[in-house]
Amino acid sequence: MSEPILQSIRDIESRAHAAIAVAVAIETLQAIERDVLGKTGQLSQILRGLKDLDDSGKKSVGQAGNVAKRALEAALSQRKSALESAVIAEALARDRIDPTEPAPRRHAGHEHPVKSVMRELEDLFESMGFTIVDGPEIETDYFNFEALNIPPNHPARDTQDTFYVEGGHVLRTHTSGLQVRAMRKYGAPLRVVSPGRVFRNETQDASHEHTFHQLEGLVVDEGISVAHLKAVLDELLERIFGERVATRLRPHHFPFVEPGLELDFQCRLCGGKGCATCKQTGWIELCGCGMVHPKVLAAGNVDPEKFSGFAFGLGIDRLTMMRHAISDIRWMMSGDLRFLRQF
Ligand code: DAH
Repeated sequence: MSEPILQSIRDIESRAHAAIAVAVAIETLQAIERDVLGKTGQLSQILRGLKDLDDSGKKSVGQAGNVAKRALEAALSQRKSALESAVIAEALARDRIDPTEPAPRRHAGHEHPVKSVMRELEDLFESMGFTIVDGPEIETDYFNFEALNIPPNHPARDTQDTFYVEGGHVLRTHTSGLQVRAMRKYGAPLRVVSPGRVFRNETQDASHEHTFHQLEGLVVDEGISVAHLKAVLDELLERIFGERVATRLRPHHFPFVEPGLELDFQCRLCGGKGCATCKQTGWIELCGCGMVHPKVLAAGNVDPEKFSGFAFGLGIDRLTMMRHAISDIRWMMSGDLRFLRQF
């Protein structure tokens, strides 16, 4: 007498299996589960009716019902995970990124030639054991001038006229202000370079700009001499030009070095014979330099009796102009794309 009930269990089960197999949405599976296995679902209702059957009916219907229930639960969960992985796979396919695809180059910018030379110099000095330090472009009058032995009204200020900002600040005229700042911060011994932007109140022409770039170098230790200075600058030139370059030191006055010097290197165009580029002298000026003045060491809280040092300040724009044969410094800050696109 339980045969018709067993038959309807088989029917429910096979219909449900068929529906599960073709379901393409998680919601459909949830609906099937509710309709068949839920509290008031078809199978649950049959199992609830067990109490009205005789013992053998209870046994056979109960068994068949539970087997069907477990089979359907397994089928539902299998189909569910299949659908979930399909959803993930589809999202992955849709959002696929090819990391090897070249970026669209057409509108990408590139480094300014001055910046490239600056980076190259940084790498070079870093490999010689120098630390790269940064300083403020709006500097105090004290660090830009006074700490460097340039008191107010000193004639040396005339050659470095700048823009004065309220509160005793100036747009720095050179990177030399870093000398005293670095000594105070790091103490001696010390090996630093500091590249950056500097400013002058200058009438512009082919070789003068109100905004340009310098790299300051400072080495302080016991027993430092001009020989160390020359060795470092010779090495710098050799690495830039790829071969040994003849250099010479000339006396020059800077209030913050004693002796004060300028380093020239032999003109690369004429080999020292004299041409338009070197103004017929055979030499091209690379940088101001010298032995750090005892007053400057003292301002940096370094004992001038124990330590000595050398410093140099080189113009990065000029070096860049020489490298690329650029004839007018005003191109550098022009922002003119016809100029910039050439690099
Ligand atoms: N600061 C100087 C300038 O801008 C360049 C200079 C000369 C820097 C001598 C130095 C130095 O460190 O020792 O003209």
